[in-house]
Amino acid sequence: MSKTDRLADLKKEYTSCALCKELVNNRTNIVFGVGDPEKCKLVIIGEAPGYYEDVKNEPFVGKSGQELNKLLASIGLSRDEVYITNTILCRPPENRNPKAEELKNCRARLDKQIEILNPRLVITLGNFATQYMLDTKQGITKLRGKVVEKNGIQIMPMFHPATILYNGGKNLHIFEEDFNNVAEILKLPPQKREQQRTLL
Ligand code: URA
Repeated sequence: MSKTDRLADLKKEYTSCALCKELVNNRTNIVFGVGDPEKCKLVIIGEAPGYYEDVKNEPFVGKSGQELNKLLASIGLSRDEVYITNTILCRPPENRNPKAEELKNCRARLDKQIEILNPRLVITLGNFATQYMLDTKQGITKLRGKVVEKNGIQIMPMFHPATILYNGGKNLHIFEEDFNNVAEILKLPPQKREQQRTLL
């Protein structure tokens, strides 16, 4: 069975998931994940769907998503060449952090997605997704940019792209450094990267 078919089956299992009562009542969609399962070497994990993600049924389609798209483009990657998902599939009310029980309910799905995709690298975006995936209390400022192996998966934590917006772009150089490392790890062709750099 192809990765695409296995992921489609997994998605079907969650089409009417009702494990988290508060989220079921609040959501418009179950925001499963996007990308080409056959091509992707990189999986990106954010915290949870926000307003636009919930309405459009796609992760990272709001302002942070636009920043993420630009960062990916800077190393010659499009959204279709990576796979993007979140720690939980449903939007928490008022964009609060996911609760422990919600994370637990959604964990088998996330682990299965990663197992099926079998990526070369996983990026965790922001403090929340990073601390959750690495099971640590250490902050993102310490952890960002360094690859850590956890349960056989190579994970690189990064700041959340929303920070670009509220820092007025002052931390873009940090993202550039981290994304260049990602490009090295994935062995992306430097020429393609140079062409795209102007997009940042
Ligand atoms: N922020 C996240 O962490 N995830 C999304 O899907 C969108 C914004």
